Amino acid sequence: MLTPDQRQAWQHDGCLVLPGFKPAAETDAACRRAREIVAAFDPGATSSRFSTRDRSKLADAALLDSAEAVHCFFEEEALDGEGRLCVPKDRSINKIGHALHDRDAVFDAFSHGAELAALASALGLVRPQVWQSQVIFKQPHIGGEVGWHQDASFFVTTPQTVLTFWFALEDATLDNGCLWVQPGGHRGPGSVLREQYVCERPAGAPPRLVMKPLHATPWPTAAQARALPVAAGTLVVFPGLLPHYSPPNRSAKSRLAYTLHVTDGTAAYAPENWLQRSAALPVRGLA
Ligand code: FE2
Repeated sequence: MLTPDQRQAWQHDGCLVLPGFKPAAETDAACRRAREIVAAFDPGATSSRFSTRDRSKLADAALLDSAEAVHCFFEEEALDGEGRLCVPKDRSINKIGHALHDRDAVFDAFSHGAELAALASALGLVRPQVWQSQVIFKQPHIGGEVGWHQDASFFVTTPQTVLTFWFALEDATLDNGCLWVQPGGHRGPGSVLREQYVCERPAGAPPRLVMKPLHATPWPTAAQARALPVAAGTLVVFPGLLPHYSPPNRSAKSRLAYTLHVTDGTAAYAPENWLQRSAALPVRGLA
């Protein structure tokens, strides 16, 4: 199903951009549903704030719970020093995660189907396993930066297999914080996994989430980064080793995106990965 140019882009750049992969009816339904979930969310019930600048804030029972549930996570700048909301609730959410694809009918339909399964197969996944789904809001004015990282840090398998499926639910532009990638950063001598996000489970203490440095290879320079402004409905796929980031959104427009992280079930999934599934909600494929 891939054209020779697409296959070349995948191998050379480590990035596949498929405009129009999702019709407007599906992206609109996903945006609508995401906003319904936020409307139904009680901000008093949790204070879990998502920040990639201070990852210790992720070390939070709400994050671990979200492996099999649908949780809303606040934008860092949405809360004041006392943890009180200082923007309207519908502008306060950084993301929703992480089992939307299994727990929510609209996102279940969005995340599964013959076309996605065929694409995963064309990209080499023998037995796809969808571990995580997220709606990322990039709220107007306060949508925070997500610094350079590799998604494989969160989904280690042996061998490395995780792919990110990143769907633009709204137009992603240079102004509202589109993705930036390092083309080719997934291959060659610099393509090591730099850090790994692990869940330590000390006896008699609550689990602890830690980002462990693995390799001192520097992150790409600004000159090595390529922006990926894309229209709503575009699917961007990249392998777990590809460094990428997104700048803050200081514009007046939101930038909703939906991501799936998919590994190959023929590879061993690391027991120290933060996201584990119980027998009550086994991991599923894309079909
Ligand atoms: Fe990422």
